[in-house]
Amino acid sequence: MSEIDTLHLALGERSYDILVGGGLLDRAGELALPVLKSPGAIIVSDDNVAPLYLERLRQSLAGAKIDCRDVVLPAGEQTKNFRHLEELINRLLDMKVERGTTLIALGGGVIGDLVGFAASVILRGIDFIQVPTTLLSQVDSSVGGKTGIDTRHGKNLVGAFHQPRLVIADLETLDSLPAAELRAGYAETAKYGLINDAGFFAWLEDAGKSLLDGDIDARRRAVTTSCRAKADIVAEDERETGKRALLNLGHTFGHALEAETGFCGALLHGEAVAIGIVMAFELSARLGLCPPQDTARVRAHYSEVGLPTDPPAIEGVDWNPDRLIGHMSADKKVEAGAITFILARGIGEAFIARDIGLDDVRAVLESCII
Ligand code: NAD
Ligand code: GLY
Repeated sequence: MSEIDTLHLALGERSYDILVGGGLLDRAGELALPVLKSPGAIIVSDDNVAPLYLERLRQSLAGAKIDCRDVVLPAGEQTKNFRHLEELINRLLDMKVERGTTLIALGGGVIGDLVGFAASVILRGIDFIQVPTTLLSQVDSSVGGKTGIDTRHGKNLVGAFHQPRLVIADLETLDSLPAAELRAGYAETAKYGLINDAGFFAWLEDAGKSLLDGDIDARRRAVTTSCRAKADIVAEDERETGKRALLNLGHTFGHALEAETGFCGALLHGEAVAIGIVMAFELSARLGLCPPQDTARVRAHYSEVGLPTDPPAIEGVDWNPDRLIGHMSADKKVEAGAITFILARGIGEAFIARDIGLDDVRAVLESCII
Protein backbone atom coordinates (compact mmCIF):
# COMPACT_ATOMS: atom_id res chain seq x y z
CA MET A 1 0.00 0.00 0.00
CA SER A 2 1.50 3.36 -0.99
CA GLU A 3 2.45 5.84 1.67
CA ILE A 4 0.21 8.85 2.34
CA ASP A 5 1.74 12.31 2.76
CA THR A 6 -0.43 14.27 5.18
CA LEU A 7 -0.26 18.06 5.13
CA HIS A 8 -2.28 20.21 7.48
CA LEU A 9 -3.87 23.56 6.72
CA ALA A 10 -4.15 25.32 10.07
CA LEU A 11 -7.24 27.55 10.15
CA GLY A 12 -8.65 27.09 13.65
CA GLU A 13 -12.02 25.36 13.50
CA ARG A 14 -11.82 25.32 9.69
CA SER A 15 -8.51 23.38 9.69
CA TYR A 16 -8.17 20.29 7.52
CA ASP A 17 -5.77 17.72 6.15
CA ILE A 18 -4.57 17.35 2.59
CA LEU A 19 -3.76 13.71 1.83
CA VAL A 20 -1.48 12.93 -1.11
CA GLY A 21 -0.62 9.45 -2.36
CA GLY A 22 -1.21 6.70 -4.89
CA GLY A 23 -4.39 4.60 -4.85
CA LEU A 24 -6.23 6.83 -2.35
CA LEU A 25 -9.56 6.52 -4.18
CA ASP A 26 -9.80 2.95 -2.91
CA ARG A 27 -9.19 4.16 0.64
CA ALA A 28 -11.41 7.24 0.45
CA GLY A 29 -14.14 5.69 2.65
CA GLU A 30 -11.89 5.05 5.66
CA LEU A 31 -10.10 8.39 5.11
CA ALA A 32 -13.31 10.42 4.85
CA LEU A 33 -15.31 8.73 7.60
CA PRO A 34 -13.71 10.62 10.53
CA VAL A 35 -14.72 14.02 9.12
CA LEU A 36 -18.33 13.19 8.18
CA LYS A 37 -21.14 14.64 10.31
CA SER A 38 -23.35 11.70 9.30
CA PRO A 39 -22.62 8.62 7.15
CA GLY A 40 -24.30 10.17 4.11
CA ALA A 41 -22.52 11.69 1.11
CA ILE A 42 -23.33 12.86 -2.40
CA ILE A 43 -20.55 12.61 -4.97
CA VAL A 44 -20.62 15.26 -7.69
CA SER A 45 -18.49 14.62 -10.75
CA ASP A 46 -18.34 15.37 -14.46
CA ASP A 47 -19.05 13.12 -17.41
CA ASN A 48 -15.36 12.56 -18.22
CA VAL A 49 -14.31 11.67 -14.69
CA ALA A 50 -17.38 9.69 -13.59
CA PRO A 51 -16.88 6.77 -16.03
CA LEU A 52 -13.26 6.50 -14.87
CA TYR A 53 -13.48 6.86 -11.10
CA LEU A 54 -17.04 7.19 -9.74
CA GLU A 55 -17.62 3.47 -9.20
CA ARG A 56 -14.30 3.01 -7.36
CA LEU A 57 -15.10 5.90 -5.07
CA ARG A 58 -18.62 4.57 -4.47
CA GLN A 59 -17.26 1.13 -3.60
CA SER A 60 -14.74 2.61 -1.22
CA LEU A 61 -17.41 4.69 0.56
CA ALA A 62 -19.75 1.70 0.70
CA GLY A 63 -16.93 -0.32 2.28
CA ALA A 64 -16.86 2.25 5.10
CA LYS A 65 -20.69 2.05 5.40
CA ILE A 66 -21.18 5.52 4.00
CA ASP A 67 -24.49 5.87 2.19
CA CYS A 68 -23.70 7.48 -1.12
CA ARG A 69 -25.55 8.95 -4.09
CA ASP A 70 -24.22 10.91 -7.06
CA VAL A 71 -24.80 13.70 -9.55
CA VAL A 72 -22.91 13.88 -12.85
CA LEU A 73 -22.60 17.17 -14.74
CA PRO A 74 -21.17 17.98 -18.19
CA ALA A 75 -17.37 18.39 -18.24
CA GLY A 76 -15.75 21.73 -19.01
CA GLU A 77 -15.34 25.33 -17.89
CA GLN A 78 -18.79 26.22 -19.24
CA THR A 79 -20.32 24.12 -16.47
CA LYS A 80 -18.98 26.61 -13.90
CA ASN A 81 -21.88 29.00 -14.39
CA PHE A 82 -25.21 30.11 -12.89
CA ARG A 83 -27.23 27.64 -14.96
CA HIS A 84 -25.35 24.58 -13.77
CA LEU A 85 -25.13 25.90 -10.22
CA GLU A 86 -28.94 26.16 -10.21
CA GLU A 87 -29.29 22.71 -11.74
CA LEU A 88 -26.89 21.19 -9.20
CA ILE A 89 -28.62 22.82 -6.25
CA ASN A 90 -32.06 21.73 -7.45
CA ARG A 91 -30.87 18.17 -7.96
CA LEU A 92 -29.36 18.12 -4.47
CA LEU A 93 -32.61 19.47 -3.02
CA ASP A 94 -34.57 16.84 -5.00
CA MET A 95 -32.34 14.26 -3.29
CA LYS A 96 -33.35 15.70 0.10
CA VAL A 97 -29.85 16.78 1.04
CA GLU A 98 -29.60 17.40 4.79
CA ARG A 99 -27.36 19.64 6.90
CA GLY A 100 -25.31 16.59 7.90
CA THR A 101 -24.78 15.45 4.28
CA THR A 102 -21.28 15.93 2.87
CA LEU A 103 -20.74 16.71 -0.80
CA ILE A 104 -17.73 15.08 -2.43
CA ALA A 105 -16.27 16.89 -5.43
CA LEU A 106 -14.70 14.26 -7.69
CA GLY A 107 -12.96 15.97 -10.60
CA GLY A 108 -10.87 18.95 -11.59
CA GLY A 109 -11.06 22.60 -10.61
CA VAL A 110 -14.36 23.15 -12.39
CA ILE A 111 -16.17 20.54 -10.30
CA GLY A 112 -14.27 21.55 -7.14
CA ASP A 113 -15.12 25.27 -7.50
CA LEU A 114 -18.77 24.62 -8.41
CA VAL A 115 -19.43 21.98 -5.75
CA GLY A 116 -17.66 24.04 -3.10
CA PHE A 117 -19.85 27.03 -3.95
CA ALA A 118 -23.01 24.92 -3.92
CA ALA A 119 -21.94 23.55 -0.52
CA SER A 120 -21.43 27.08 0.79
CA VAL A 121 -25.00 28.16 0.03
CA ILE A 122 -27.20 25.08 0.15
CA LEU A 123 -29.13 24.93 3.44
CA ARG A 124 -26.95 27.95 4.40
CA GLY A 125 -23.81 25.85 4.20
CA ILE A 126 -22.90 22.18 4.38
CA ASP A 127 -19.57 20.31 4.39
CA PHE A 128 -17.66 19.19 1.33
CA ILE A 129 -14.60 17.12 0.55
CA GLN A 130 -12.31 17.67 -2.41
CA VAL A 131 -11.14 14.64 -4.41
CA PRO A 132 -9.10 16.43 -7.11
CA THR A 133 -8.27 14.44 -10.25
CA THR A 134 -6.29 16.96 -12.32
CA LEU A 135 -2.78 18.21 -11.62
CA LEU A 136 -4.16 21.75 -11.47
CA SER A 137 -6.73 20.86 -8.86
CA GLN A 138 -4.26 18.77 -6.83
CA VAL A 139 -1.66 21.55 -6.63
CA ASP A 140 -3.99 24.51 -6.38
CA SER A 141 -7.77 24.68 -6.61
CA SER A 142 -8.68 21.95 -4.09
CA VAL A 143 -6.76 23.74 -1.32
CA GLY A 144 -7.66 27.07 0.22
CA GLY A 145 -11.44 27.29 0.04
CA LYS A 146 -11.95 29.61 -2.92
CA THR A 147 -15.15 28.47 -4.60
CA GLY A 148 -17.25 30.06 -7.30
CA ILE A 149 -18.47 30.38 -10.85
CA ASP A 150 -17.78 32.44 -13.96
CA THR A 151 -20.29 35.02 -15.21
CA ARG A 152 -20.53 37.02 -18.43
CA HIS A 153 -18.57 39.71 -16.57
CA GLY A 154 -15.56 37.46 -16.06
CA LYS A 155 -14.04 34.56 -14.20
CA ASN A 156 -14.78 33.63 -10.60
CA LEU A 157 -16.66 36.88 -9.97
CA VAL A 158 -19.35 35.15 -7.91
CA GLY A 159 -18.33 32.80 -5.13
CA ALA A 160 -17.51 32.28 -1.50
CA PHE A 161 -14.66 31.31 0.77
CA HIS A 162 -15.72 27.88 1.99
CA GLN A 163 -13.03 25.48 3.16
CA PRO A 164 -13.33 21.75 2.45
CA ARG A 165 -13.27 19.33 5.39
CA LEU A 166 -10.60 17.18 3.71
CA VAL A 167 -8.63 16.95 0.47
CA ILE A 168 -7.82 13.49 -0.93
CA ALA A 169 -5.39 13.74 -3.87
CA ASP A 170 -4.86 10.36 -5.55
CA LEU A 171 -1.77 10.74 -7.74
CA GLU A 172 -2.77 7.73 -9.85
CA THR A 173 -5.79 9.58 -11.24
CA LEU A 174 -3.30 11.76 -13.13
CA ASP A 175 -2.45 8.77 -15.34
CA SER A 176 -5.68 9.19 -17.33
CA LEU A 177 -5.40 12.96 -17.69
CA PRO A 178 -4.92 14.23 -21.27
CA ALA A 179 -1.39 15.60 -21.83
CA ALA A 180 -2.62 19.16 -22.46
CA GLU A 181 -4.50 19.16 -19.14
CA LEU A 182 -1.43 17.85 -17.35
CA ARG A 183 0.67 20.64 -18.82
CA ALA A 184 -1.97 23.20 -17.84
CA GLY A 185 -1.67 22.04 -14.23
CA TYR A 186 2.08 22.18 -14.54
CA ALA A 187 1.87 25.94 -15.16
CA GLU A 188 0.32 26.39 -11.70
CA THR A 189 2.82 23.96 -10.13
CA ALA A 190 5.82 25.95 -11.37
CA LYS A 191 4.09 29.10 -10.09
CA TYR A 192 5.01 28.18 -6.49
CA GLY A 193 8.71 28.11 -7.43
CA LEU A 194 8.39 31.46 -9.17
CA ILE A 195 6.61 33.07 -6.21
CA ASN A 196 9.00 32.25 -3.37
CA ASP A 197 10.91 29.01 -3.89
CA ALA A 198 13.69 29.35 -6.48
CA GLY A 199 15.03 25.91 -5.48
CA PHE A 200 11.71 24.28 -6.40
CA PHE A 201 11.72 26.01 -9.79
CA ALA A 202 15.31 24.85 -10.40
CA TRP A 203 14.26 21.29 -9.49
CA LEU A 204 11.35 21.52 -11.92
CA GLU A 205 13.72 22.65 -14.66
CA ASP A 206 15.40 19.24 -14.20
CA ALA A 207 12.46 17.04 -13.23
CA GLY A 208 9.53 18.72 -15.01
CA LYS A 209 9.62 16.57 -18.11
CA SER A 210 9.75 13.27 -16.22
CA LEU A 211 6.93 14.49 -13.98
CA LEU A 212 4.83 15.12 -17.08
CA ASP A 213 5.86 11.73 -18.51
CA GLY A 214 4.45 9.91 -15.49
CA ASP A 215 7.19 9.71 -12.84
CA ILE A 216 5.05 9.21 -9.71
CA ASP A 217 7.82 10.21 -7.27
CA ALA A 218 8.30 13.50 -9.10
CA ARG A 219 4.52 14.00 -9.09
CA ARG A 220 4.33 13.32 -5.38
CA ARG A 221 7.11 15.81 -4.64
CA ALA A 222 5.55 18.44 -6.90
CA VAL A 223 2.05 18.05 -5.42
CA THR A 224 3.18 17.99 -1.80
CA THR A 225 5.56 20.95 -2.25
CA SER A 226 2.82 22.95 -3.97
CA CYS A 227 0.16 22.10 -1.37
CA ARG A 228 2.57 22.89 1.47
CA ALA A 229 3.37 26.27 -0.12
CA LYS A 230 -0.30 27.07 -0.67
CA ALA A 231 -1.37 25.87 2.77
CA ASP A 232 1.26 28.10 4.44
CA ILE A 233 0.07 31.16 2.56
CA VAL A 234 -3.64 30.46 3.12
CA ALA A 235 -3.06 29.82 6.84
CA GLU A 236 -1.62 33.34 7.09
CA ASP A 237 -4.14 35.09 4.86
CA GLU A 238 -7.29 33.05 4.30
CA ARG A 239 -9.35 35.88 2.76
CA GLU A 240 -6.67 37.42 0.57
CA THR A 241 -6.25 40.69 2.38
CA GLY A 242 -2.51 40.56 1.68
CA LYS A 243 -0.02 37.80 0.97
CA ARG A 244 -2.48 35.36 -0.64
CA ALA A 245 -2.63 37.66 -3.66
CA LEU A 246 0.84 36.33 -4.57
CA LEU A 247 -0.90 33.11 -5.64
CA ASN A 248 -2.45 35.16 -8.44
CA LEU A 249 0.90 35.45 -10.24
CA GLY A 250 0.03 35.47 -13.95
CA HIS A 251 -3.70 35.60 -13.28
CA THR A 252 -4.39 39.28 -14.04
CA PHE A 253 -3.13 38.72 -17.59
CA GLY A 254 -4.37 35.10 -17.71
CA HIS A 255 -7.96 35.81 -16.69
CA ALA A 256 -8.13 38.61 -19.30
CA LEU A 257 -6.98 36.19 -22.00
CA GLU A 258 -9.55 33.61 -20.90
CA ALA A 259 -12.34 36.19 -20.78
CA GLU A 260 -11.48 37.26 -24.33
CA THR A 261 -11.99 33.69 -25.56
CA GLY A 262 -15.43 33.63 -23.89
CA PHE A 263 -14.29 30.54 -21.88
CA CYS A 264 -14.78 28.52 -25.06
CA GLY A 265 -12.23 25.89 -24.05
CA ALA A 266 -9.70 26.81 -26.76
CA LEU A 267 -7.36 28.18 -24.09
CA LEU A 268 -7.18 26.14 -20.88
CA HIS A 269 -6.99 28.03 -17.58
CA GLY A 270 -3.46 26.72 -16.91
CA GLU A 271 -2.33 27.67 -20.41
CA ALA A 272 -3.64 31.20 -19.87
CA VAL A 273 -1.77 31.28 -16.54
CA ALA A 274 1.48 30.19 -18.25
CA ILE A 275 1.17 33.03 -20.77
CA GLY A 276 0.15 35.41 -17.97
CA ILE A 277 3.18 34.47 -15.87
CA VAL A 278 5.50 35.08 -18.82
CA MET A 279 3.79 38.47 -19.34
CA ALA A 280 4.19 39.32 -15.64
CA PHE A 281 7.92 38.56 -15.89
CA GLU A 282 8.16 40.54 -19.15
CA LEU A 283 6.49 43.49 -17.41
CA SER A 284 8.83 43.15 -14.43
CA ALA A 285 11.87 43.16 -16.75
CA ARG A 286 10.50 46.11 -18.74
CA LEU A 287 10.15 48.10 -15.51
CA GLY A 288 13.77 47.28 -14.63
CA LEU A 289 12.68 45.24 -11.60
CA CYS A 290 13.71 41.79 -12.75
CA PRO A 291 16.83 40.59 -14.60
CA PRO A 292 15.87 39.85 -18.23
CA GLN A 293 17.67 36.50 -17.97
CA ASP A 294 15.16 35.37 -15.30
CA THR A 295 12.30 36.29 -17.62
CA ALA A 296 14.02 34.33 -20.39
CA ARG A 297 14.39 31.31 -18.06
CA VAL A 298 10.67 31.31 -17.25
CA ARG A 299 9.74 31.58 -20.92
CA ALA A 300 12.23 28.85 -21.89
CA HIS A 301 11.03 26.41 -19.24
CA TYR A 302 7.33 26.76 -20.00
CA SER A 303 8.09 26.46 -23.69
CA GLU A 304 10.29 23.38 -23.13
CA VAL A 305 7.46 21.50 -21.42
CA GLY A 306 5.08 22.41 -24.25
CA LEU A 307 3.10 25.27 -22.72
CA PRO A 308 2.18 28.37 -24.74
CA THR A 309 4.13 31.49 -23.76
CA ASP A 310 2.33 33.99 -26.00
CA PRO A 311 -1.39 34.24 -26.92
CA PRO A 312 -1.99 31.55 -29.56
CA ALA A 313 -4.02 31.96 -32.73
CA ILE A 314 -7.62 30.98 -31.95
CA GLU A 315 -10.39 31.12 -34.54
CA GLY A 316 -12.71 34.03 -33.86
CA VAL A 317 -10.37 35.67 -31.33
CA ASP A 318 -8.54 38.83 -32.35
CA TRP A 319 -6.20 39.64 -29.44
CA ASN A 320 -6.40 43.34 -28.76
CA PRO A 321 -4.36 45.01 -25.96
CA ASP A 322 -7.04 47.56 -25.08
CA ARG A 323 -9.77 44.96 -24.82
CA LEU A 324 -7.51 42.81 -22.63
CA ILE A 325 -6.87 45.81 -20.38
CA GLY A 326 -10.65 46.31 -20.29
CA HIS A 327 -11.04 42.75 -18.95
CA MET A 328 -8.36 43.42 -16.33
CA SER A 329 -10.31 46.44 -15.12
CA ALA A 330 -13.29 44.16 -14.38
CA ASP A 331 -11.11 41.82 -12.29
CA LYS A 332 -12.07 41.42 -8.64
CA LYS A 333 -8.54 42.42 -7.62
CA VAL A 334 -9.09 46.02 -8.81
CA GLU A 335 -8.75 48.49 -5.91
CA ALA A 336 -9.84 52.14 -6.27
CA GLY A 337 -9.70 51.63 -10.04
CA ALA A 338 -6.06 50.40 -9.97
CA ILE A 339 -5.34 46.96 -11.41
CA THR A 340 -3.31 44.69 -9.12
CA PHE A 341 -0.36 42.89 -10.69
CA ILE A 342 1.92 40.30 -9.17
CA LEU A 343 5.41 41.12 -10.41
CA ALA A 344 8.82 39.63 -9.65
CA ARG A 345 12.27 40.85 -8.71
CA GLY A 346 13.55 37.52 -9.98
CA ILE A 347 12.68 33.83 -9.86
CA GLY A 348 11.27 33.10 -6.39
CA GLU A 349 10.80 36.79 -5.56
CA ALA A 350 7.23 37.74 -6.42
CA PHE A 351 5.56 40.81 -4.93
CA ILE A 352 2.26 42.70 -5.14
CA ALA A 353 2.23 45.88 -7.28
CA ARG A 354 -0.67 48.33 -7.49
CA ASP A 355 0.85 51.36 -9.22
CA ILE A 356 1.68 50.07 -12.66
CA GLY A 357 1.22 52.37 -15.65
CA LEU A 358 -1.13 51.02 -18.27
CA ASP A 359 1.23 52.18 -21.04
CA ASP A 360 3.78 49.62 -19.84
CA VAL A 361 1.10 46.94 -19.64
CA ARG A 362 -0.06 47.79 -23.17
CA ALA A 363 3.53 47.67 -24.45
CA VAL A 364 4.04 44.19 -22.99
CA LEU A 365 0.76 42.96 -24.47
CA GLU A 366 1.70 44.42 -27.88
CA SER A 367 5.10 42.72 -27.77
CA CYS A 368 3.57 39.35 -26.88
CA ILE A 369 0.71 39.40 -29.40
CA ILE A 370 2.15 38.10 -32.63
P1 NAD B 1 -11.36 20.88 -15.32
O1 NAD B 1 -12.01 20.65 -14.04
O2 NAD B 1 -12.19 21.40 -16.45
O3 NAD B 1 -10.66 19.54 -15.78
C1 NAD B 1 -9.99 19.50 -17.01
C2 NAD B 1 -10.53 18.39 -17.93
O4 NAD B 1 -9.98 17.15 -17.50
C3 NAD B 1 -12.03 18.22 -17.91
O5 NAD B 1 -12.45 17.88 -19.20
C4 NAD B 1 -12.24 17.03 -16.97
O6 NAD B 1 -13.41 16.34 -17.23
C5 NAD B 1 -11.03 16.20 -17.28
N1 NAD B 1 -10.53 15.36 -16.20
C6 NAD B 1 -10.44 15.67 -14.91
N2 NAD B 1 -9.78 14.71 -14.25
C7 NAD B 1 -9.47 13.76 -15.15
C8 NAD B 1 -8.76 12.54 -15.09
N3 NAD B 1 -8.17 12.12 -13.95
N4 NAD B 1 -8.62 11.81 -16.22
C9 NAD B 1 -9.15 12.25 -17.39
N5 NAD B 1 -9.80 13.42 -17.52
C10 NAD B 1 -9.96 14.16 -16.41
O7 NAD B 1 -10.13 21.91 -15.20
P2 NAD B 1 -8.95 22.12 -14.16
O8 NAD B 1 -7.80 22.53 -14.96
O9 NAD B 1 -8.83 21.00 -13.22
O10 NAD B 1 -9.48 23.36 -13.30
C11 NAD B 1 -9.67 24.62 -13.91
C12 NAD B 1 -10.59 25.43 -13.05
O11 NAD B 1 -10.02 25.59 -11.75
C13 NAD B 1 -10.84 26.83 -13.57
O12 NAD B 1 -12.20 27.10 -13.55
C14 NAD B 1 -10.11 27.73 -12.59
O13 NAD B 1 -10.70 28.99 -12.46
C15 NAD B 1 -10.21 26.93 -11.33
N6 NAD B 1 -9.19 27.25 -10.32
C16 NAD B 1 -9.62 27.48 -9.06
C17 NAD B 1 -8.71 27.74 -8.07
C18 NAD B 1 -9.17 27.92 -6.66
O14 NAD B 1 -8.37 28.31 -5.82
N7 NAD B 1 -10.41 27.62 -6.36
C19 NAD B 1 -7.34 27.79 -8.37
C20 NAD B 1 -6.94 27.55 -9.67
C21 NAD B 1 -7.88 27.29 -10.65
N1 GLY C 1 -5.53 30.21 -6.82
C1 GLY C 1 -5.33 31.38 -6.03
C2 GLY C 1 -5.79 31.23 -4.63
O1 GLY C 1 -6.28 30.21 -4.22
O2 GLY C 1 -5.69 32.16 -3.88
